[in-house]
Amino acid sequence: MPQIIDGKAISDAIKEELKIKVEKLNKDGIKICLAVIQVGSDPASSVYVGNKKKACAYIGIDSLAYELPEETTQDELLKLIDELNAKADVNGILVQLPLPDHINEDAVIHAIDPAKDVDGFHPQSVGKLCIGQPGFVSCTPAGIIQLLKRSGITIEGKECVVIGRSNIVGKPMALLLLRENGTVTVTHSKTQNLKEVAKRADILIVAIGKPKMITREYVKEGAVVIDVGIHRNENNKLCGDVDYNDVATICSAITPVPGGVGPMTIAMLMYNCVEAGISR
Ligand code: GUN
Repeated sequence: MPQIIDGKAISDAIKEELKIKVEKLNKDGIKICLAVIQVGSDPASSVYVGNKKKACAYIGIDSLAYELPEETTQDELLKLIDELNAKADVNGILVQLPLPDHINEDAVIHAIDPAKDVDGFHPQSVGKLCIGQPGFVSCTPAGIIQLLKRSGITIEGKECVVIGRSNIVGKPMALLLLRENGTVTVTHSKTQNLKEVAKRADILIVAIGKPKMITREYVKEGAVVIDVGIHRNENNKLCGDVDYNDVATICSAITPVPGGVGPMTIAMLMYNCVEAGISR
């Protein structure tokens, strides 16, 4: 039986640590406030935004919710971001993605003050990560590093293979593993011999968005497998990008879906908000 990496327990531990930190900051007169903007009413986004607001309330972070109609123009959204950039009592600004097609996501991300970029998506945050300077890091990959460290898994010197090269997960994941002195390979849809490449991994991070694609044929015996995917299968049950039951027979540690990577994203968003409040 592999070690099951319990993302729920680890995220709960991080949230407890942050709650204590925020209580102390409040006593010193420092309040932390996150502005959350959603454009339109995509049901999945509404669930994510609701969970973010709940986590803020639990930890003691104020949240300002902006629920804007689908027809909101890019200029209107940029104007709101400018106003929030200028507000001294707002520490973090989060624009929930995806945005409606008529709004350019890059322009919106670029408009957020890098000092309030708690998602870690601004080119300045990404650039700092790339050259090893402190800055906000995208929450899902930052959460995966915490999962590994808090499960006693060493990254230094290990062969790390990342499947997927998105700006939100794959690319920052590769940079973070490199920062931890892993030997990193990034693979994607055009990679040849993916099974052979994935099989090199001591630590395999899977973020491809295809339900149960990764079977034991992609996994070296004893590898650690981290599953970023989340899907509903034909029976309406949640599953990941990894065929859990098959891969669990060969790996040494694995994240379940749900209860693995998912809860870590919000915990690390809360971490970034607290950092934004401390360093303003
Ligand atoms: N949509 C899916 N994941 C995320 C995230 O981490 N941040 C934002 N802002 N939108 C998302």
